[in-house]
Amino acid sequence: MRTPIIAGNWKMNKTIDEAIQLVNDIKNNLKEEVEVVVCVPFTALNEVKKIISGTKLKLGAQNMHWEESGAFTGEISPLMLKEIGVDYVIIGHSERRQYFNETDETVNKKIKSALKHNIIPIVCVGEALEQREDNIEKEVVKSQVLKAFEDISAEDMVKIVIAYEPIWAIGTGKTATKEEANDMISFIRTTIMDKYDRGVSDKVRIQYGGSVKPNNITEIMNQSDIDGALVGGASLKPEEFIKLISF
Ligand code: PGA
Repeated sequence: MRTPIIAGNWKMNKTIDEAIQLVNDIKNNLKEEVEVVVCVPFTALNEVKKIISGTKLKLGAQNMHWEESGAFTGEISPLMLKEIGVDYVIIGHSERRQYFNETDETVNKKIKSALKHNIIPIVCVGEALEQREDNIEKEVVKSQVLKAFEDISAEDMVKIVIAYEPIWAIGTGKTATKEEANDMISFIRTTIMDKYDRGVSDKVRIQYGGSVKPNNITEIMNQSDIDGALVGGASLKPEEFIKLISF
């Protein structure tokens, strides 16, 4: 049985004060059966960690460098995240791939480094609209998956969370249909099975992301292969996110 996992990706939103307020609202509305993660800006990690300690709410970062330290101005290292007590880190979000030159190679390095430091990566994959229109979306996603998990052991692979986020559905209000989402996610699971084995692919949790809202969460979560959601916009409003996590 895979435990459902819903993660809020706050992106570049919320000051420390705003973060404290939002997390206070969320932490009192958790459910036993669903793992909930808030991926907050770096500046708010420490304060949020203090507030959620003793609750089941998990803490995530939105990116990290793969090196432990060094001359990388403006970057944050896995040791720094670990010191705060971060549980998860989003790796390879499409916005980082698009605007900050994240590549399959850097994604792979970051995944390895996160695992080495016991931080669970939430690895994002997903095709652009033109790629879907050209009917190459599966090829694209398969290549992202295989490159991301190059040289990752089966033992590590089962810990990883994958988020399938079609780029055309992010922040657009345009969700993939539940069939499109489930079809791609079961394709990702098959790709993992072919690379490892059934034991591994049965354990890996795969989320859907892209305009997940209170009105579509239930149909998304009811799909056979979808284990959760990575939520942007709707994770910023307490009433919406609380509805999502109690789907
Ligand atoms: P959205 O963002 O829910 O606002 O579409 C999802 C994401 O980028 O993770």
